[in-house]
Amino acid sequence: MPGSDRSERPALIRVLQGERVDPPPIWIMRQAGRYLPEYRELRSRAKSFLDFCYSPALATEAALQPLRRFPLDAAILFSDILVVPDALGQKVWFVEGEGPRLDPLIGQDQWRLGAPEKALQRLAPVYEAVERIRAALPAETPLIGFCGGPWTVATYMLQGRGGDKDEARRTAYQRPEDVDRLLDVLVETSAQHLAAQAKAGADCLQIFESWAEGLPAHLFARVIIRPTAALIKRVRQLGVTAPIIGFPRGAGLMIAEYAKLTEVNAIGLDTSVPSYSGLSSGLPKQGNLDPQLLVLGGDALAQGVRAVLSQFRRDPHIFNLGHGVTPDATPENVARLVELVKCG
Ligand code: CP3
Repeated sequence: MPGSDRSERPALIRVLQGERVDPPPIWIMRQAGRYLPEYRELRSRAKSFLDFCYSPALATEAALQPLRRFPLDAAILFSDILVVPDALGQKVWFVEGEGPRLDPLIGQDQWRLGAPEKALQRLAPVYEAVERIRAALPAETPLIGFCGGPWTVATYMLQGRGGDKDEARRTAYQRPEDVDRLLDVLVETSAQHLAAQAKAGADCLQIFESWAEGLPAHLFARVIIRPTAALIKRVRQLGVTAPIIGFPRGAGLMIAEYAKLTEVNAIGLDTSVPSYSGLSSGLPKQGNLDPQLLVLGGDALAQGVRAVLSQFRRDPHIFNLGHGVTPDATPENVARLVELVKCG
């Protein structure tokens, strides 16, 4: 990392420390992915998606691909939130065109989970990828490490798939002790996972709580806020000082409480959340262009970018989408987006 001189710190890090930077730094959730032809080519070289994630050479190449094309202000580790259940011993696989599948915990009387320390050993190739990506990046480009939020990962483990989360929610009511214990295992494993990424060279960390939606306030407090606050506290206990971005997608009116009580350093807003959602003005905010505009392009994209820039003009702001870029986005539209943000 560059020295502490203000002008030498990367824009993303300055924003995460509470500074307003103009124009705002930009990166894109899921910036490495299927909308890039070179990604699809690389992906075809691995037997399975998990093999891809556990190959430091392929993961490094995938993480660097978007930065070769676009002048982005950060790289993100190429991996997946579901390597954590895999490392805990639950079977995880990806069905082409459908998404992830796991052997669901629902239906099993006893939930047998591996120990966090053992999981970390299985995840060693991820940390090797972090080291390689960090070494390949210029010093002024921060590398973002990540994990899934405990509830999001738990919902996949419980249901064995995405889709609606009704079954996971019912289980949280029916088997509260089991679910809270599962969340505790995920807190400890994810904390160690994030700390290992920081140690390997990640400059900043993001918690993807993609499934924060649809919870009554008391359940949101129990399965999202409490475990996330515990996760961040534990990461700090492990000596990590890197800033942490929380992205509670779909949190709705609970977002301000999430930001206040979890001690995230910055908050990612999904597409539906306006900048004025009860969040403190000094809190760094990330977001939140509608990903569909990268499919459409044209005037709609330009107007969407202007609206986001204007909405966050008084905040420390990191430009991003409100959710991940979709496979039907075009690289040309992504190039245009970055240009619009950087040059107006
Ligand atoms: O540039 C990057 O951000 C790549 C790293 C990354 C991936 N997944 C790679 C990936 C990150 C940060 C994720 C996070 C992730 N994974 C989330 C949280 C973010 C979000 O979008 O809500 C979630 C919920 C998952 C679980 C997951 N992994 C799903 C639902 C899917 C299938 C849907 C899809 O987009 O295909 C995956 C597979 C996956 N993870 C792919 C990639 C590039 C596509 C698989 C492939 O190429 O075969």
